[in-house]
Amino acid sequence: MNKTYYIETMGCQMNKLDSELVMVPLERAGYTKTTDIQSADVIIFNTCSVRQHAEDKVISKVGQLRSRFLKHRDFVLAIIGCMAQRMGQELLDGYPQVAVVCGPGQIHQLTDLIEKAATNLGSKKSRDDRSVALNTSEKSPELEQLDTTRQYVDTKKPFMAFVRVMRGCNNFCNYCIVPYVRGQEQYRPLKNIVDESRRLVEQGVKEITLLGQVVNHWKNQHNGHTQNLADVLHAVHEIDGLLRLRFVTSYPRNFDDNVLQAMADLPKVCPYLHLPAQSGSDRMLKAMNRHYTVGEYLDFVQKARQIVPDLSIAGDFIVGYCGEQESDQQETLTLIEKVRYKNCFVFKYSPRPGTKSEGRFADDVPPEVKQRRLVELLALQSQVSEKDNQALVGETLDVLVEGLSKKPHLDKDSKTPPPADTPQLVGRTGGDQIVVFNGDRENIGQIVPVTIKKTSALTFFGELAK
Ligand code: 5AD
Ligand code: SF4
Repeated sequence: MNKTYYIETMGCQMNKLDSELVMVPLERAGYTKTTDIQSADVIIFNTCSVRQHAEDKVISKVGQLRSRFLKHRDFVLAIIGCMAQRMGQELLDGYPQVAVVCGPGQIHQLTDLIEKAATNLGSKKSRDDRSVALNTSEKSPELEQLDTTRQYVDTKKPFMAFVRVMRGCNNFCNYCIVPYVRGQEQYRPLKNIVDESRRLVEQGVKEITLLGQVVNHWKNQHNGHTQNLADVLHAVHEIDGLLRLRFVTSYPRNFDDNVLQAMADLPKVCPYLHLPAQSGSDRMLKAMNRHYTVGEYLDFVQKARQIVPDLSIAGDFIVGYCGEQESDQQETLTLIEKVRYKNCFVFKYSPRPGTKSEGRFADDVPPEVKQRRLVELLALQSQVSEKDNQALVGETLDVLVEGLSKKPHLDKDSKTPPPADTPQLVGRTGGDQIVVFNGDRENIGQIVPVTIKKTSALTFFGELAK
């Protein structure tokens, strides 16, 4: 019998990777993927806990499965990821339709847990086989094996794969749930990272993004000296057939100069940093337990730009953190002006159970003020992007072509589609800018030079350079 699974992923890139990884043993066990949740035999929600809103969405999706469960008991619902880890048994107790709860440190067990839950489907006592697997601290060879034996899965971004370099986070920023649900920092062995990357490239991957919550914390002892992220970049860079290499997310402290130097020296390493600042106010950074000042952040940005030409930087900000005043918001606006990010992700502060902020400080900025501050930061960033992008008109940039563009942007004004022999393509620059241009189908999967003709805050439009 053909058994099917449906998987939905919320949250960060780490979760996207985990979803890809759990699919491999499931398929080996005979399950095939479906996009139809209604008919699926197994339903997996890979969840996020970083903000309340993300959890609310999952609870509502779980609720929608209640009537099917009460009527038919014909599917296994597994909740995995950070919310599974945070809520654990509470999910089983509160929702009879939930059969498996499995934290991010236990996903190597998922197929077994699902099979066990599936054995008694249909019978009233089936839910005796419900299970919880939660343990983020244990170093498990099986978990590591899930990464090393993975298969390339063609997702929304073709030719692109994430490779984990580390798990967990030791920083304990006061607002953040991640260290509680993803556990202590654990660095993967360099050999495993390189072998996995090489196999992905053999399977057609052109661009690898190394993943870590604090990716620049990666280290390893090797022949009596400490290796850092620069060594990973050098080693992965050597893989033939790989065209591009990136890494996210960087913490704006403990960032070694030799990583910047590797970015400058190694042509495949993209001039791109995701460097969350969270706030432009020293008072807020201190309250958040971020361990750097705005001045130190700016010094680092300046140094990075000196060493890495054309560096593009993406930022994260939290608005409406406990005690945030208008003056703090003004300082954040000033920081955005000064750094000139490529783009910013802005989030409204959401108290997370068990974090220091939630326990000690009042969530005292009203929702409408958070909303206004969010809009203000994004509006300023949009002005910055528009202006800086405009300055790139006339430049020729290297674009890794991802595929056919969905919308015929260039011919917006005319009704005629682009000619079949020069279809509209979409790709990305090393700085992670989206570029749309007319090219050749054969360009898909290649890096081609494109001269920029027109820009908006989010997209570049260009022509293939001769
Ligand atoms: N509330 C709002 N945003 C948060 N982030 C992390 N924790 C919270 C929270 N409790 C944001 C940070 C981080 C990004 C992944 O999510 O900006 O960089
Ligand atoms: Fe959370 Fe801070 Fe760790 Fe990032 S560095 S995952 S914000 S605790």
